[in-house]
Amino acid sequence: MGLIALGVTGGIGAYKAVEIARGLQEVGHDIVAIMTPSAHRFVGRVTFEAITQRRVITDQFAPGANADIEHIALASDIKVLLVAPATANLIGKFAHGIADDFLTTLYLATRAPVVVAPAMNTNMFEHDAVVRNLATLVERGVHVVGPGEGHLACGWIGKGRLAEPAEVVSAVQAVLRPPGDLVGRCVVVTAGPTFEDLDPVRYVGNRSSGRMGLALASEAVARGARVVLVLGPVGLEPPLGAEVVRVRNAAQMRNAVMGHATDADAVIMAAAVADYTVSGGVHPEKLAKDGETLTLNLTRTTDILAELGRWRGDRNRPVLVGFAAETQEVVAHAKTKLDAKRVDVMVANDVSRTDAGFDVDTNAATLVESTGATDLPLQSKRDLAGVILERVEALLSLRASPAAADVVDDDAP
Ligand code: CTP
Repeated sequence: MGLIALGVTGGIGAYKAVEIARGLQEVGHDIVAIMTPSAHRFVGRVTFEAITQRRVITDQFAPGANADIEHIALASDIKVLLVAPATANLIGKFAHGIADDFLTTLYLATRAPVVVAPAMNTNMFEHDAVVRNLATLVERGVHVVGPGEGHLACGWIGKGRLAEPAEVVSAVQAVLRPPGDLVGRCVVVTAGPTFEDLDPVRYVGNRSSGRMGLALASEAVARGARVVLVLGPVGLEPPLGAEVVRVRNAAQMRNAVMGHATDADAVIMAAAVADYTVSGGVHPEKLAKDGETLTLNLTRTTDILAELGRWRGDRNRPVLVGFAAETQEVVAHAKTKLDAKRVDVMVANDVSRTDAGFDVDTNAATLVESTGATDLPLQSKRDLAGVILERVEALLSLRASPAAADVVDDDAP
């Protein structure tokens, strides 16, 4: 977490820089936006001011702006200098050390890592001048994200689109993370409830806002992991930077999780999976009510975590984390589930508390492992997510590295 300078240059992708700023804030960073004169032709200064809650730097020579030699002060304060979109002009200036505005001066003045996300017409991107300039930057240690391929604003189809905001956020995160935590790791997180449909308007489901799972996904992105978020029906927005697989019922969640299990270094089952689904499947028409009582036949769903535990067997990857929502004898019940499902960590919480669990931003929990239990006091779900991921990181570093992983393709579930 820290201050990121977001340079915005005059390209059609400039509007996407707004979403990039928001994504960086979501993972805990503060943003100062710097706009080149031509960026104003594409997006307004006020938009960035409203989002970043800071004055947008637009002019090196604005009256009053240089009292503290701003580019020098900022140069030492920032954790990363990111330019998105980066035009051919900007890339050329960075490559040749031309410092004729605030952004290009900041580039020379800072020792923070630099990330550029080029965006331009395909022919421009492939022009020898741009290719050489980018190669110079890469040689100097500048990180380049994208560009992607697709329909360009100029009507062409090809390479030159600004990378997706989530990709740019992940690139910044990867640059910031010290080696050794979740960079290069794949973490599968499930979040939210599952709904088992009775008919087109009714369902049986579990209570869950998805907050704890979303906090885990967001924190895992912040720690540099590739995150696959298998998300049940929730009203909250998933974090930028996670690959989101939306599901509705337990069977879909099971398929999504098992489909990603081979790639995963860790699977964190924070979802409140329905234990039962409607026997015979969803009724195609709305059921009319008849009679004073209604009897439903329900069938057990697959216990996804238990299936993962069985599939993993004696291998040590992926690390498996479950949640045990309990109302009494919290730790004892969690320990029983830990053993039965053959997982590494059970995060046990007492859902009868009003300040923890459902629909609130705080949670208190106990981490239950085969070696013992650790009480975690009431704290924000974000902080709790950090503690859980630290435990995952510790378990991963005790075990094989990704390169030495003992899972081979024909182990696919
Ligand atoms: N879980 C799962 N698949 C299910 C049910 C639960 O993967 N069909 C996972 C949950 O995501 C959670 C853990 O198992 O990580 C424990 O869920 P919980 O509902 O507390 O326990 P259950 O095993 O369902 O047992 P019970 O409902 O009887 O307490």
